[in-house]
Amino acid sequence: MICTVTLNPAIDKTVVIPSFTVDAVNRIVHVRKDPGGKGINVSKVIESLGGDSVAYAVLGGITGAELEQMLSGFRFRLESIRTGQATRTNMKVVDPVLRTNTDINEPGVPFGSETAAELKRRLEAQLGEGDILVLSGSVPAGTDTNIYQDLTLMGKECGARVLLDADGGLFARGIEAAPFLVKPNRYELEQYLERKLETREELCEAGKELLEKGVSVVVISLGSGGALLCRRGENDRSGDIFLWAEGLPVPVASTVGAGDSMIAAFAYSLDKGMDYADAFRLAVAAGSAAVTCSGSQAPDAELVWKLYDQVKLRGKGEEEPKGRR
Ligand SMILES: Nc1ncnc2c1ncn2[C@@H]1O[C@H](COP(=O)(O)OP(=O)(O)OP(=O)(O)O)[C@@H](O)[C@H]1O
Ligand SMILES: [Mg+2]
Repeated sequence: MICTVTLNPAIDKTVVIPSFTVDAVNRIVHVRKDPGGKGINVSKVIESLGGDSVAYAVLGGITGAELEQMLSGFRFRLESIRTGQATRTNMKVVDPVLRTNTDINEPGVPFGSETAAELKRRLEAQLGEGDILVLSGSVPAGTDTNIYQDLTLMGKECGARVLLDADGGLFARGIEAAPFLVKPNRYELEQYLERKLETREELCEAGKELLEKGVSVVVISLGSGGALLCRRGENDRSGDIFLWAEGLPVPVASTVGAGDSMIAAFAYSLDKGMDYADAFRLAVAAGSAAVTCSGSQAPDAELVWKLYDQVKLRGKGEEEPKGRR
């Protein structure tokens, strides 16, 4: 069983405004609403790959009820944790004339400690040995940054493998609890380690540092440059494995959701018992497929598997991929 968690969900409202102008009245020619939030997006991609998950989301107010309604069309089960705070709406302004995308995001309102405790209780009741818990995305501004650390410890106690995809303090605090897998992008890792990561050696060194923390798998995503997987040796650290995947040359529609698709493919593959190299290959394929889709639309499985065949992996010491920053 895969459980995803969304602490800061949103209704993504995409509005089309030709020649969008600041400091003027703009007329919307098309509106579209999609359910949003990182964990929910991960559940959508898992479903698109043919897998199943349960999405835990903190929802409130009329917008929370609307989001619940929007998710009723999906196969995955939604577990709502009710809060008194209304779920946020994020606006995405698409301008087909100037070819710009402008995001206007609400920070979200923090939920109380009872809501956090209820989420923890319900996850604890669900999770068991071998399950997968995906913790991804932001939290409402003002939320305690220890929350992913607490949930990681709880998940591990239940015997679940925890996948963490977060940044800033959430990542820094979360990694102290040694999740099974973390997936920072280059920028997030540079922020965490407070140094630039330019070369292949520097990235491997950074990966090693995270493995030292007790994390089993570190995936550093590099946008169009592909990704690096670092895995702890089973018996001792001399057995650590480093695999590089080159980025695939795909037509880019929107880079939104590439990271979510990557983590979704990992959760799906690990749940199916695929080995690390194949899971990594599928994760890179899913990230690449996601960029060909507009907005936060989940990529379809056929394209992901087609790209899977094109992903080339290289071990340490083999020729450096021509990744770009
Ligand atoms: N422009 C691109 N071209 C090809 N593949 C891409 C591109 N951008 C992303 N990918 C693929 O998707 C994976 C994840 O992308 P990225 O490193 O941008 O994640 P992220 O920064 O966490 O994204 P998100 O904004 O979803 O959080 C990459 O490792 C790569 O395989
Ligand atoms: Mg990301």
